[in-house]
Amino acid sequence: MSSIGIASFSRSIRRMVPTVAATLLSGAVLVGCVSAASQDPRNTNWEALGNSPEMQHHADLSTINRDNVGQLDLAWWVPMPNLDGLVGNPLIADGVIYQGGPSAAIFANDIKTGKLLWSYEDTADFSKSSLSGYWGRRMNRGLALSDGKAIITTGDCRLVAVDQKTGEKVWEAQSCDSTQMYGISAAPRVGAGLVFIGNACMDSGTTRGFVDALDVKTGKRRWRFYTVPGDPAEKQDSPLYDMAAKTWGTGWYEKSHGCGSAWDAMTYDPKLNLLYIGVGGPSPFDPSKRAADAGDELFTNSIVAVDATTGEYKWHFKETPHDGWNYDATVGIMIADLPVGGEMRRTVISVPKNGFAYVLDAKTGKFISGSAYTDLNWAKGLDDNGRPILKPEGQYWLRPGEVNIALPALSGSHGWEALAYDPESHLVYIPNMVMPTKVESDPKALVGGLLMDFYYGSSGDPKWKSYGEVVAWDPVANKVKWRAPSGLPINGGLLHTSGGLVFQGMADGRLVAFDALTGKELWSRQTGGAIRGAPSTVMVDGVQYVIVPTGNGTAAATGSYFSKYSTTPQSRTPPRLLAFRIGGKAKYPSLATVEPINRPVAPRQDVAMAGKGKIIFESYGCVDCHGMNADASGGRIPSLIRMPPSDLAYLKSVVQGGALSTNGGGMPQFKDLTDAEAEALFAYLTNEAWDAHEKKGAFRP
Ligand code: HEC
Repeated sequence: MSSIGIASFSRSIRRMVPTVAATLLSGAVLVGCVSAASQDPRNTNWEALGNSPEMQHHADLSTINRDNVGQLDLAWWVPMPNLDGLVGNPLIADGVIYQGGPSAAIFANDIKTGKLLWSYEDTADFSKSSLSGYWGRRMNRGLALSDGKAIITTGDCRLVAVDQKTGEKVWEAQSCDSTQMYGISAAPRVGAGLVFIGNACMDSGTTRGFVDALDVKTGKRRWRFYTVPGDPAEKQDSPLYDMAAKTWGTGWYEKSHGCGSAWDAMTYDPKLNLLYIGVGGPSPFDPSKRAADAGDELFTNSIVAVDATTGEYKWHFKETPHDGWNYDATVGIMIADLPVGGEMRRTVISVPKNGFAYVLDAKTGKFISGSAYTDLNWAKGLDDNGRPILKPEGQYWLRPGEVNIALPALSGSHGWEALAYDPESHLVYIPNMVMPTKVESDPKALVGGLLMDFYYGSSGDPKWKSYGEVVAWDPVANKVKWRAPSGLPINGGLLHTSGGLVFQGMADGRLVAFDALTGKELWSRQTGGAIRGAPSTVMVDGVQYVIVPTGNGTAAATGSYFSKYSTTPQSRTPPRLLAFRIGGKAKYPSLATVEPINRPVAPRQDVAMAGKGKIIFESYGCVDCHGMNADASGGRIPSLIRMPPSDLAYLKSVVQGGALSTNGGGMPQFKDLTDAEAEALFAYLTNEAWDAHEKKGAFRP
């Protein structure tokens, strides 16, 4: 069980085939098609996150296709000099791959050879940051390219823009304040000459979420859009927030300041000049701990459209009212032109954490259609307005002390991992995480505390099983077309190509190609490291490359948090970048050799004391970095079952004393932790290490 408090919670034939020969093999019709496609700049470059402002993760390339994918192999691989792990979508411009990572790391590698051309890393002191700033420093989901610059966030609320050619810093800007509960882990979004960035509050409920738009040339702020109202004791910023404040109920501000974090998805629409912002949920998660008469708690769990140039509000669509499950809407926002009632309509496709996929009118936000693409335990379906019809069994707060199953998990059925789209078939591809989670309201836990067991689906209950799958959802027919289940639940983002393929990297290190129309697995290779980032593909001098970063997943919150679901012990290897092409001949890098877990130095500790320590570990946010069961997936954050503190004095020096809190380390100082709490933590960590050493415990794959 896991307890989440207010400050917490927050995957042959080896021969050279020249393009011409390959296209001829696939038939004459394809020849003209490929040469035209390969001249399209969208195919020689992958400059935008998701390859287009529409965020479709689609490439109009078919040199690698259903017929020849069997000959796809490794062209080259290189180690990447980053200690934490890379999960950002690789961006590609003029033969150079730009990969972002933690500590605002940017790497520029040559696409033909993998050679590192230059790199940038932020070395500024962040030791005054809150937990959120420290966390953001370790978790980074990539960069943006715009106006000749590569732009990335530092984690502790700053943005840095460097010259795309040289890696020299051009500007630096401050967005949020990381001494408060704010940090940034998202890839910045760009459009309309601006850089858009939100922030994360680590589900603390203590800060007010917002989105900033900065001038791409200078980093100067142009506008700010708050996602939730401010302190009701003061004048609201505008009538919009007077309206929003009324939806939070009586006395809401004493219980929650929001957060409504826009911590990831925002999609810029160049045709309508709108920015679609996905907003996170209210905290605490348990609605009985927020205002009893709350309405929609705007704009949490909503898609909000604002004018991209001015930040002026245009429309919103609420997805999960009375959220009790952390079903954020800040993941998976795509734009697509779809046939609706006989005419083509510009639509926003939203796939939040709650298990539904929605189609909204891009101009008005009006609900067009939507349906569940996975089993749900909280709602029966959507009504005509797209509002969920609740199931009583999902409402755990009405049954304190009883065991309840949350499905999707409180981390969502779909997270920040990239969706993909086929503009011809209109299929939307979703990386689904099926993770039934045991949930109870816990009267003993800290404010907002819940008891949760995210690994419940691996505990042997035949009714509830954890697994991952790719789901092809048809937004026109409003139903699922196919499912391709895979082993572990938390895998990488997706890529669709006109070759009729969907690519996905897996927690266990495989890169897989599925038939885009049927879901049949057509190809896979073991890359030697867990994958979370979405692959990219481009055509360079007649060769189609597929690029993917691999390695331990600490660079994604859930990579570390759910290390047993997002990695295997063997796939926890250091960061690497890999390139695939037809007829690639490079030798594959290897998986990790798994060493047995050492016998802890300290003897087993008191069980009751360890139980208290577990709650502290989870409610103080240790779990956010060091992972459930203190087993982080690697990188700069140590797995504490492999490295338990040898004695209490050492634990105190690190946790209370902040011995490893300055830059090189990045282990936050917890000044307010009492001696009794430190003792309980020591007991918990020691016993977890003993359990792991003796292979005890519910889930030890
Ligand atoms: C923001 C992420 C983060 C959080 C939150 C965090 N840690 Fe750490 N922790 C780290 C990192 C990074 C290191 C490695 C520092 C180094 O090697 O310099 C570390 C190191 C440690 C070590 C030392 C391991 C060793 O033997 O060198 C202990 C013990 C530890 N953490 C315990 C905790 C506890 C207990 C909490 C909660 C009260 C916690 N950590 C919260 C990131 C975090």
